[in-house]
Formats: sequence, C-alpha cells, structure tokens
Amino acid sequence: MEFQFSERAQKIEEGIFSILDHKKSELMAAGRKVYNFSVGTPDFQPQPHIMKAMSEAALDPENYKYAITDREELLAAMRNFYQNRFGVELARDEIMSLYGSQEGMAHIAIALCDPGDVVLVPNPGYPVFSLGPELVGAQIETYPLYAENQFLPDFSDIPEETARKARFMIVSYPANPVCSVADGTFYEKLIAFARKYEIIVLHDNAYSDIIYGGREGQSFLSYPGAREVGIEFYSLSKSYNMTGLRISFAVGNREIIREFRKVRSQIDYGTSLLVQKSAVAALTGPQEAVREQCREYEKRNQALCGGLRSIGWNVPDSQGTMFVWAPLPDGYKNSEAFTLELMEKTGMIVTPGSAFGDLGEGYVRMALVLPVPVIEEAVEKIKESGILAAGEKR
Ligand SMILES: Cc1ncc(COP(=O)(O)O)c(C=O)c1O
Repeated sequence: MEFQFSERAQKIEEGIFSILDHKKSELMAAGRKVYNFSVGTPDFQPQPHIMKAMSEAALDPENYKYAITDREELLAAMRNFYQNRFGVELARDEIMSLYGSQEGMAHIAIALCDPGDVVLVPNPGYPVFSLGPELVGAQIETYPLYAENQFLPDFSDIPEETARKARFMIVSYPANPVCSVADGTFYEKLIAFARKYEIIVLHDNAYSDIIYGGREGQSFLSYPGAREVGIEFYSLSKSYNMTGLRISFAVGNREIIREFRKVRSQIDYGTSLLVQKSAVAALTGPQEAVREQCREYEKRNQALCGGLRSIGWNVPDSQGTMFVWAPLPDGYKNSEAFTLELMEKTGMIVTPGSAFGDLGEGYVRMALVLPVPVIEEAVEKIKESGILAAGEKR
C-alpha cells in the first residue's frame, strides 16, 4: 500500500539533531572521541528531594490515574514560587501546567489563531516558535534579531501592516539560540507595541535561572500591563534538570489561559500526578542548587568563550541560557559546512546557526553541557586541528 501523508508533515524537515546524531555515531564507531556541544540537555542531576518526591509518589497506586486537572498543591506551589522568585502575584485561574514549553508552544496557536492569521516569531529563533503556528496554517512573519542591536527586536523593523494583522508574537529572553538578555526598557516597549496593535505576547521564560554577569532573571509578568497583553511560559526543565519529566507552566492573562486550557482538555488528560508531585518538590524546596548551577554554567561560559578567544576565535561571552552563540571563525561562510568540518577535524559537535532561521547563518550554537576540564580539552583540540588557520587562508 502506498501511504499518503499530509502536506504539513512533508514540510517538516528531519531535525538537524538527528543528522548530527547519525554523524556522531559514525565518529564513535570509528573510535574517535566526541565532544557533544549540540544538545540542550543539561548534564546536571535533579536535586535529591525532587527524586525522593517522585519515588514516593511512584509507590502510591492513586498516582497512576488520569490527573485531568492541576492539583491544588501544584497551583499553590506555583503561586508561591512566582511571588517569591519574581514578585509576581498569580491567581489560581492564571496558572496551568503543560507537558513542557515545547508542547505548549506547539499547541497554543490552536487556541489563538485561524489559518492565514499572522504570527510574529524571532529570526534566528527556537524552531517550535514557528512550527506550532505553521501546524494550524498561520502565516509566519519573522522579526529580525541583529547582533548590532544586541539581538533585541527593533519594533520599527516590523512593517505597520504586518503589525496590524498580527494575532500573536513570540518573544523569549534570555534567548536561545542568540544568548542575549532583555531589560525593563525592552519589555516596556514590547508591551506598548502589543497594546498599540492589539497583539498577544507569548513570553518564553525557559532560561530566567541561567543568566550571567550578576544579572537577575526576570518575569515578563513583573512589568506593568504585561498581564493585559499576554502570558509567560516557565519551564522546570533546565532550572531543575527535569527535562525528561515534561513539565512547565503557562501563566498570566486568564482569558488566554482559559481558552488554552479548554483546547488542551480535549487533547490530553492532565499532567501526570507523579510529575505534579515532583514539580511541587522542586518549586517549594531549597533553591540554592539552582543558583549554584547557574554559577557552574557561567564558569563553563568563561572557559569556552575565553578559551576560544585565546586561540583566535572571536566568540563573545553568552549573557544567558545554557548556550553560546558563536560567529563562524574568519574565512568560513556556511554554518553547516563548518559544523561538519569541525566535527571531522576535532570531534566537536555544535549546531549550525542556519537551523534557527536564515539570520542564524554565519553562526554556530554550542551548549554548555560539558564540565570545564572537558571544555578546555575541546578548545585545545580546535587549536591543534589548525581549522582556524585554514579558514584564514581561504
Ligand atoms: C527557548 C526554549 N523554549 C522551550 C524549550 C523546551 O522546554 P521544555 O522542556 O519545557 O519543553 C527549550 C529547550 O531547549 C528552549 O530552549
């Protein structure tokens, strides 16, 4: 039988990660040492109190049933957490859990737009920001993020007509992949822009706990007027090393939350009770490990960026997220070709910037998921390989 698949499925390309993974297996089979800087999975462990909550919950048969709703204790934990962490007060109907921000971003367009509606997403940007709206037939309009503007949008780059048509806009700082952060002035401009054109704002706050240079991570909702225009996604994945448990939250504007909850109530049966219990432990437990982990990421950031600069590759320090956004070394133009050459010559796996949109071309993204001594070893490998000098001669 010849299967027919949807046009939408045909448009989804095999992720670059599986291509890199394939190449990685080839190198490993050939006995080569591999330095994998391409995946966004932290190498840190969850805190013991989180694993304990999970294992205790696993012994109660009640926790294997459909959850259907978020438990009161989960909502209360999230309310207290947002109050203590960000000074943001949330009512219970302004909070809902998700199976991760990835899932939330993939589905929210179902609640917010119809085919042909305009959605604004960053370029370069995290891929699901455009994939979700594309799946419902929305028209994606990208807004550019340029290095000369600290990878923040310049609202005047968005044509008036596009802004008028836009249904919602996805914004995310600290930003993956460009590793920049936003300050209060930016959020004030964003809220004013959203109000002027009646655009819903979705702020993905996946990295508020991984931010460098003495800055404090913020919530979009802490700025006046934010709740009137949008919602925020707060994920437990990176802050608490719970990537595989799949839990994050959508918080903020209650009308958006209500509509999104209605849609999701038809496509799932609630966040697993085992996961809800683990999340309560994470949100209500000690937070020092989150800060300690951020300091460790910062040491890796300095080891990688400082190390690369010391051997002649001019990579600026990341300002936040668990990544580094590196312009290609002199002489190289194509990020995929460079990624493959780097892998072949050094065993170092990075992600080509083009995977994040055409404005990502000319960059590669590196994840800070290896300890400092291994990072130093990888930097040494790059130096010895001669790949930087080879580019200069081109
Ligand atoms: C910007 C951004 N948003 C969302 C996610 C996914 O988060 P979650 O694990 O909550 O689905 C990631 C993961 O890398 C991310 O970088």
